[in-house]
Amino acid sequence: MAGKEPASYTISDTANWVARYRAVESARPDAVFKDLLAERLAGETGAAIVARAPKSLHNGWPVIARTVAIDDIILTAIAEGCDTVISLAAGLDTRPYRLDLPPTLTWIEADLPGMIEEKNRLLADETPRCALERVKVDLSDSTARAAFLDHAAQGRRRILVLSEGLLMYLDEPTVAALSADLMAAGVTWWVSDQISPAVRDMFMADMRDILSQAPMHFAPANGVAFYEKLGWRVCEVRSSAEVAQRLNRLPWPMWLLMMLPLPQPDPRNLGKARWGGVVWLER
Ligand SMILES: C[S@@+](CC[C@H](N)C(=O)[O-])C[C@H]1O[C@@H](n2cnc3c(N)ncnc32)[C@H](O)[C@@H]1O
Repeated sequence: MAGKEPASYTISDTANWVARYRAVESARPDAVFKDLLAERLAGETGAAIVARAPKSLHNGWPVIARTVAIDDIILTAIAEGCDTVISLAAGLDTRPYRLDLPPTLTWIEADLPGMIEEKNRLLADETPRCALERVKVDLSDSTARAAFLDHAAQGRRRILVLSEGLLMYLDEPTVAALSADLMAAGVTWWVSDQISPAVRDMFMADMRDILSQAPMHFAPANGVAFYEKLGWRVCEVRSSAEVAQRLNRLPWPMWLLMMLPLPQPDPRNLGKARWGGVVWLER
């Protein structure tokens, strides 16, 4: 980003936004992960969006929590025989460089052409820990998406698909169509983050201007039951607030709220709850 700050940001700029939170976390002496490439990747755009984001996001605790939860799930799936990770809308994620991955693992990143080109340029001198491929694809194009998944899945045994930070920018029919494509491609696991309608509405109210080019849609009121109706089995649901509390990253007003003896939101019936988390699904 050079010169004047834009009024709003593109869907691909949201990758810089979340990378900036990973960079800030990584710079802490008590960092819960070290993403040493995040600062370079996030750039000025990431810092500018964080500066304009709601203060309730504080240190980016939902991103820190989802990063830790997803790292853990990926390593668990690899221990259970996962041989391929397909990262949809991989953005500026650097797990292939940062996680302790077996060199026999194949990691396939998919994103829009501009993002892939920029990432290839910025990481040209870095060496991933496993076999890494990057594919330019518009995942909202149903024909291109199905063809990409079909090709990416060929010859693989146990595939984990990651759609971190993507689904909320899609609508329900597109997520359902993506689910059908994942089933058809024979993937074993699907890992994603999930927000409630109240969290989506809060984001869109607080960040209406910034996100006008990248509005959030998908936030089903029936939460993880949305996926169960499509034939997935829920392996695990990890609440972002609970993970952030365990990591000591939760802002104190939320910490106090968590200490109250109130029932936690039901991830299958979110009602008006402000809830977000990571969902690990199995076919
Ligand atoms: C919030 S970022 C998440 C990036 C990454 N998964 C992470 O968590 O750091 C959203 C990403 O979705 C990508 N994206 C959005 N719409 C897409 C589409 N139709 N096809 C492919 N990628 C898309 C953007 O380019 C961006 O990298």
